[in-house]
Amino acid sequence: MAQIKGHRIFLTGAGGGMGRCIAAMFAKRGATLGLTDSSERDLGQTIASLGAEAGIPWSRVLDVTDASAVDAAVRGFAAEAGGLDLVVNAAGILAVAKVVDMDPAEWRRVLE
Ligand SMILES: NC(=O)c1ccc[n+]([C@@H]2O[C@H](COP(=O)([O-])OP(=O)(O)OC[C@H]3O[C@@H](n4cnc5c(N)ncnc54)[C@H](O)[C@@H]3O)[C@@H](O)[C@H]2O)c1
Repeated sequence: MAQIKGHRIFLTGAGGGMGRCIAAMFAKRGATLGLTDSSERDLGQTIASLGAEAGIPWSRVLDVTDASAVDAAVRGFAAEAGGLDLVVNAAGILAVAKVVDMDPAEWRRVLE
């Protein structure tokens, strides 16, 4: 695996299954993490699960459908971390239904 120690990595969906696993993998390898999720509770659980060696990572409650909030969060993390090396977009909604059966508003939420 490529050298990760010291890399500044910004994640969306860090409170979810994939985001939490990816955050843990990078934390173990010494990355500087910026963790975000739209769910404050799930984001907090990820931070608590990382353990003491990860320190207190930079984090924000962030809805990825809000472009200006995403811009501000990425810039804020990069300013504090002294740069940005990698972005992981793990935010998403898995809708277990046929598109034709879905409420159009729910389908729009999935796409956004
Ligand atoms: N788990 C898999 O095997 C798998 C495989 C292929 C694709 N995916 C896709 O990858 C994404 C993540 O998968 P997962 O299993 O971690 O899902 P998950 O539901 O466990 O986590 C998704 C996270 O995204 C967050 N989120 C949802 N909407 C958001 C928004 N608007 N802004 C910010 N955060 C938001 C949720 O709060 C949640 O913490 C999903 O889109 C899923 O469809 C997952």
